[in-house]
Amino acid sequence: MTLFDSAGRFVLSEPGRSAAHFNLAFPGATDLSFPQLAEVMTTRLLNNVGDPWQGGHGPNHTKQAEIDVVRCLGALFGGGNDVWGYVTSGASEGTLHAVDEAATAHPDLVVYASTAAHYSVAKAARIVRAPLARVGVDHDGRMMLDDLRSTLQEHRDKAAMIVATVGTTEREAVDDVPGIASLCDDLGIVRRRIHVDAALAGLPLALLPLRERPAFDFGAGATSVVVSGHKFLSTLMPCAVLIYPRRPALQDQRPVSYIGAADTTIAGSRSGHTPLLLRAALFDHGWGVHRERARQARELAAYTAEALHRIGWPADRLPLAFTVTLRQPGPLPRPWVFGGDAQVGRIICMPGTEQAWIDEVVADLKTAAP
Ligand SMILES: Cc1ncc(COP(=O)(O)O)c(C=O)c1O
Repeated sequence: MTLFDSAGRFVLSEPGRSAAHFNLAFPGATDLSFPQLAEVMTTRLLNNVGDPWQGGHGPNHTKQAEIDVVRCLGALFGGGNDVWGYVTSGASEGTLHAVDEAATAHPDLVVYASTAAHYSVAKAARIVRAPLARVGVDHDGRMMLDDLRSTLQEHRDKAAMIVATVGTTEREAVDDVPGIASLCDDLGIVRRRIHVDAALAGLPLALLPLRERPAFDFGAGATSVVVSGHKFLSTLMPCAVLIYPRRPALQDQRPVSYIGAADTTIAGSRSGHTPLLLRAALFDHGWGVHRERARQARELAAYTAEALHRIGWPADRLPLAFTVTLRQPGPLPRPWVFGGDAQVGRIICMPGTEQAWIDEVVADLKTAAP
């Protein structure tokens, strides 16, 4: 909740501040802040228009920070020196770029996504005018490979863009990327892309030790990956990072004269501030800190699920997930926001969520226990 004071100045009202902790349904971490960037965030126009690898006219951009971020996350996802990508407005734009790249390379493209995929996938398919084939999910919300096989077989002469989700919005289910890649191999589908929408869970899962880490990166068959900045990395401003293992082959790299850089991104003008936030989140802390943030978030999610079970409130959590799904309650003494639908809501224990808030939720639910 925001207000303007009597002088018309923007203030975050006290009720607004405390209201933040009632919204447990959106996966935005809030534990990292960036006071060191306060001045540059509020006093400079920074526009990363055009390709990050081409500076363009003038120095009012942060493309070096953007490249650092793409390379850092590219290495985490198994890419080498040739990675290409950019900082997008959010994960939806990243998925749109990947779907558009595939449709440009293969005009007969069919897009495949599970019924649990984010709504941005259907939007991307619609924008590029590619048919969307839906694939069923199992009880946990993972794409069913048998169903994918029969759906791929129906269109086996067509090029395929399979969008796998690593951390579905509903339950944080993780699709089987190596399984998808070997299915395509079995069916002889060589004109293919596998885009991994890892907006929510890509980073925390990639930081797990190898033996616990689900395989979903370039080595597992992904041809592009997108991860959000304002989810796990707490950039506090919406953004995401899209990464390809190498620059897409058909990209037109000729600079547009107006901007002095090639038009290889979906958006024209792009934030020069979000790459600074991302770079600070990644480089000022290091993987050890982020691994520990993820561990604590999972621990709190396990605590939440247990506490709900103890009061007899139907709740569920997939192993490794920050997300706890719960039966949607009626009105409660405090204005908790659980998102979801009339049946199922969720508590997402992102870094920044406090155990005290969970104790409060559980106490309120106890008064309404089913
Ligand atoms: C799995 C997944 N994909 C895509 C998105 C869309 O991200 P954005 O709203 O940044 O475009 C989200 C956001 O919640 C998500 O969880």
